[in-house]
Amino acid sequence: MSVIDLRSDTVSRPSLAMREIIKDSLVGDDVLGDDPTVKLLEAKAAKVVGKQAALFVPSGTMANLIALLTHCGRGDQAIVGSESHILHHEGLGAPALGGIHLGIVRNQKNGRMNIDEIESHFKSEKSISKVMCLENTQNRCGGTVIPQSEITEIAGIAHNAGASVHIDGARIFNAACALETDVSSLVQDADTLSFCFSKGLGAPVGSVLTGSEEFISSARSIRRQVGGAMRQSGIIAAAALFALENNIERIGIDHINARRLAEGLTQISGIDVDLNLVQTNMIFISSEKIDVAILQNDLADHGILVSSTVPNTLRMVTHLDIPEESIDVVIEQVQKTTENMIG
Ligand SMILES: Cc1ncc(COP(=O)(O)O)c(C=O)c1O
Repeated sequence: MSVIDLRSDTVSRPSLAMREIIKDSLVGDDVLGDDPTVKLLEAKAAKVVGKQAALFVPSGTMANLIALLTHCGRGDQAIVGSESHILHHEGLGAPALGGIHLGIVRNQKNGRMNIDEIESHFKSEKSISKVMCLENTQNRCGGTVIPQSEITEIAGIAHNAGASVHIDGARIFNAACALETDVSSLVQDADTLSFCFSKGLGAPVGSVLTGSEEFISSARSIRRQVGGAMRQSGIIAAAALFALENNIERIGIDHINARRLAEGLTQISGIDVDLNLVQTNMIFISSEKIDVAILQNDLADHGILVSSTVPNTLRMVTHLDIPEESIDVVIEQVQKTTENMIG
């Protein structure tokens, strides 16, 4: 049985062309600073997002952790969204390893934050807020986007308070695509940005943290401390470079597929999808009529894998390995299963 894996965009496999590039990659020892492919990737990644420098790290989680450890000292506060990946899915590394307090601002359903709540964190005398963290796209809020105007407004508040802005941009190229802008304009008011090669860009592994030369130089020392400095990492940097050069333009296809899937699902009685939240490559499904956990199991029995990252909700994510033809197959199976369940 062929599998349609919609659990995440992290599940895509490196293409044959990408594997060819990996095979021929030039490598050195990046801990000693002489891996040419990593250097090339860092320079190119920084340029694409309009920052001075970049640091290659194994994962998005580590990029965020290093960002927070660099922005904050022990006892300082980082402000994060109530639905942020940093808060829910990164093992609370910043508090555990860095003694960093996470101040929480509520994300509304569409991911937006209340500006007054942000301001009150900065005015509070209980803590020193050193960094305001945004997530774009916002995974647990449906893959929704934060427009540049909102980033500018929030950055203004943070900067006035003497704090920095970090964007967890694991899927920043999806955000830029949906907003029809380029990443460097979108993140121009943020001090630091992390993004992942192993999600919509289709590389097997790797993320970068980007920012000023000075910031990245400090972050490089912290990467060593947390065990993220790698040796012949050119072998994976080559795949990331390939992804940067070849897989950004095609991201819009995933968004078209996601929209078609979402629209098809909304036609099914018993299935609820908020189309307003389908802005990029994610679809969140809920139901008042059926138990979505049973739907998830039945879909798996039919070779369709979906995830559940938010309670009572299923998530489907489109990516490089989901061709257009799979969309109808998924809609049809959800329809059959739901009909059987409702009776
Ligand atoms: C928004 C967001 N940030 C960070 C990460 C962490 O990336 P990684 O799984 O590479 O640690 C993810 C992973 O899905 C994510 O969705």
